[in-house]
Amino acid sequence: MLQISFSTQNNSEHSHSQEEALIKGALAILVFESEEESPVFHGVNKAIADSLTRAAKAEAFTGKEGTHCVILAPVSHLSRVVLIGVGKKEAFQTWEAEKAGGYAASLLGKEKEASLITGYISGDLAAHVALGAVLGAYHFSAYRNEAEVLKNHKLIKLSIVASSVDEADKAKSLWPSLVAVAQGVALTRDVVSEPANVLTPIEFADRISNLRCHGLEVEVFDRPAMEKLGFGALLGVAQGSVNEPRMVVMRWNGGKKDDSPLAFVGKGVTFDSGGVSLKPAAGMEEMKWDMAGAGAVVGLMAALALRKAKVNAVGLVGLVENMVSGKAQRPGDIVKSASGKTIEVLNTDAEGRLVLADVLDYACKNFAPKLVVDLATLTGAIVVSLGHEYAGLFSNNDTLAHALETAGLQTGEKLWRLPLDKEYDKLLNSDIADIQNISSGRDAGSITAAQFLKRFIGETSWAHLDIAGVAWAKKSRHGQPKGATGFGVRLLDRFVREGFEK
Ligand code: BES
Ligand code: MN
Ligand code: ZN
Repeated sequence: MLQISFSTQNNSEHSHSQEEALIKGALAILVFESEEESPVFHGVNKAIADSLTRAAKAEAFTGKEGTHCVILAPVSHLSRVVLIGVGKKEAFQTWEAEKAGGYAASLLGKEKEASLITGYISGDLAAHVALGAVLGAYHFSAYRNEAEVLKNHKLIKLSIVASSVDEADKAKSLWPSLVAVAQGVALTRDVVSEPANVLTPIEFADRISNLRCHGLEVEVFDRPAMEKLGFGALLGVAQGSVNEPRMVVMRWNGGKKDDSPLAFVGKGVTFDSGGVSLKPAAGMEEMKWDMAGAGAVVGLMAALALRKAKVNAVGLVGLVENMVSGKAQRPGDIVKSASGKTIEVLNTDAEGRLVLADVLDYACKNFAPKLVVDLATLTGAIVVSLGHEYAGLFSNNDTLAHALETAGLQTGEKLWRLPLDKEYDKLLNSDIADIQNISSGRDAGSITAAQFLKRFIGETSWAHLDIAGVAWAKKSRHGQPKGATGFGVRLLDRFVREGFEK
């Protein structure tokens, strides 16, 4: 992980030696739109014969958000200066800060060490710039040779130059709790990136068990244990695969002793071939990340433990592989879920909801949680509706939905609420069982999937996040690398901080 330090530049005195100390190696400078240049920018610029302003002019760079300008080796002791456009000062909040840090880190990938000059922003925001940088420098390189990786991922140390000693101190004191979040996101990205031949349910459960060293309680349920619990829906999905299923329950008890926990539930289909209702070949490899909901829950629980969050939380993940074989579940099969409800499986590719049915029922009944939030790459239909910018949000509780939407705007992990309605619910009535796993038409596919989950919730406050469109990025965006995004970790960490720790 990228190493961060916070320092300051003494602006008031315009000390010559300090500016000179800075003007060495590689630099990133945050530039606000249509604002007077900061003293540090000014100092650096003057020291290199106005190279920065001339380059910016040549590139028509004005500091607009999402733009940048790279100046290579303007003088012999300066290898690279990147100006990062960060938009209007008034709009510069935590998410904008994280994006800026991400762009900086990705543009500095060919440097080993660099400094990032924040200009006049608060220590709090400077810490979020650092978080963005750490996440922007993330790369999954378990299967590449080192030389190849080092071409673009050299950066190991980034020094964040804050506006004053006070702000640097504030950033330093906030940083440990943000490093925890960065580690959580990295863990999520790691497991989501792993191919399905490596990350089987058993391997996933083992990696979760390793989190015990951070103070998480971890309990692993194997097939016999789940048979005892009556998990017919989850086990029906698992039965076609030689890779045995697992359910893993993680507990973090950082709150008051008898305070009921928050519950987070994740879909962990380590590979989704569709089963007998087989998916088309094109793009099927993407279904290795059909466990991104579980990945997010694991990353979140790790983050809460690492930053010793003052909250009680329980994370539950249902880990299965959905495969085709002589033992696989068939369309038309009827399974009995842990809730006692029977389910007619009309399409074996609508498997995520079957897995979640049992895990959600278990979460609600065993932990009497304050609320349940589930995350799942549940439907292709949500990608049709919302693309890759917003995840779908469904909830039986307006307060909960609003709190999640707010955390989404603050972290850039945005949510768009879609309706639940008993008219949609009717579409799941089966002729032969209590419920069928798909509706007969293709209409409102994400909503009917959410309605299915709702039948296993009861009275608990609940929100379902359909993250099929946001868990994986085909291109790098917002300063973050392409591939697994880690969507949900920062969102829910923020949700927990704002709502349950103050
Ligand atoms: N894992 C898929 C959903 C998905 C699609 C995730 C694309 C990420 C990208 C899910 O299990 C699935 O196959 N859903 C079906 C449901 C249908 C059979 C009702 C779908 O969306 O086609
Ligand atoms: Mn499927
Ligand atoms: Zn799936």
